[in-house]
Amino acid sequence: MWSSTATSQPVLVTGGAGFIGSRLVRSLASAGHRVRVLDDLTTGRAESVGGVPGVTLVRGSVLDPEAVAEAARGTGLVLHLAGVVGMRLAARQAGLAYAVGHDGTANVLARSGDTPVVLVSSSAVYGLSDSSAVLREDVPLDRTVPLAYDGGAPGYATGKWEMERLGRQAWRHRPVLVVRPFNVVGPGQSGRYGMVLPTFFRQAETGTPLTVHGDGTQRRCFTDVDQFTSRLLDLAASDAAWRPDANVFNIGSTTETAIGDLARLVIEATGSTAGVVHVPYQSVFPGRTDVTGRVPRVERLTSAVGGTDWLSAAELVRRTAEARQGGAVTAGR
Ligand SMILES: NC(=O)c1ccc[n+]([C@@H]2O[C@H](COP(=O)([O-])OP(=O)(O)OC[C@H]3O[C@@H](n4cnc5c(N)ncnc54)[C@H](O)[C@@H]3O)[C@@H](O)[C@H]2O)c1
Repeated sequence: MWSSTATSQPVLVTGGAGFIGSRLVRSLASAGHRVRVLDDLTTGRAESVGGVPGVTLVRGSVLDPEAVAEAARGTGLVLHLAGVVGMRLAARQAGLAYAVGHDGTANVLARSGDTPVVLVSSSAVYGLSDSSAVLREDVPLDRTVPLAYDGGAPGYATGKWEMERLGRQAWRHRPVLVVRPFNVVGPGQSGRYGMVLPTFFRQAETGTPLTVHGDGTQRRCFTDVDQFTSRLLDLAASDAAWRPDANVFNIGSTTETAIGDLARLVIEATGSTAGVVHVPYQSVFPGRTDVTGRVPRVERLTSAVGGTDWLSAAELVRRTAEARQGGAVTAGR
């Protein structure tokens, strides 16, 4: 479907100036690919891909069909990551988050010919799960599931659900692969938009108490960004992954960490004396319910591209602390 060694046609990465996208762009470029990035730079930064040989950044929106058509011309693969990301941002701009998920994906699918497309969806399509829920790709999800996550009005999760629905329809005409990331973290992630790990780091480093929503027993599976991107590219290069009846893949660590424990790990790693403050979830996100747990089943990923020795949350915190101490993260991010 797509060969990681076939470098004659460029790869388009939408949202390629973002946290995950820029890692993908750099990885593709270092493997000899020419890469086009289409990004409106709302949360992404031009510097994250600037100066990388073989990479062209086009500032534009996936909501603009002409910009998508231009960027997609002649490409051999499209990785579609553009999205309104981060709980704080997605809650404030729910309508836009939905539009980018739905309309942006419709544009990408309509304006990129028959080029194979990887749609980067989200674990949010599983809705208000708990730790015992079986989050497997073949479990049918109707629209009410992401809608409940969005608090009843279409937003980020419903937009991702629509992205997947459009992807299923598009399979009649061209190859589509869908990936569902689970809490991807690592050095370079911004804390401005509601991502928990960089928020904890910024608070610890500035002596501000770490804000834990609720009692801190809610759990997530934190996934290293480099492991995530390498698994995504492995899938894209695997013919077995592009089967129309089994083309959706969870990508994520399977070990849960309670948010209260994550806060403690960050405090230990930074030597901060800031402590923790518990904030009611409803006061931060009125009308919404927090997910108590979310563990991916990854058998499908493992059978397509082999097993992954996922990094632990402690190791992810250690590496992020090291990178921040080394100045890898710009102020305020
Ligand atoms: N980070 C995670 O844990 C996680 C989890 C689930 C899903 N995802 C998905 O992975 C993708 C990348 O997320 P990220 O963590 O790198 O976030 P990010 O905010 O760093 O990246 C998103 C990128 O999309 C760009 N963008 C936003 N709207 C756009 C538009 N209309 N047109 C063009 N570009 C636009 C932003 O400028 C940014 O560069 C997103 O689709 C997100 O929904 C991420």
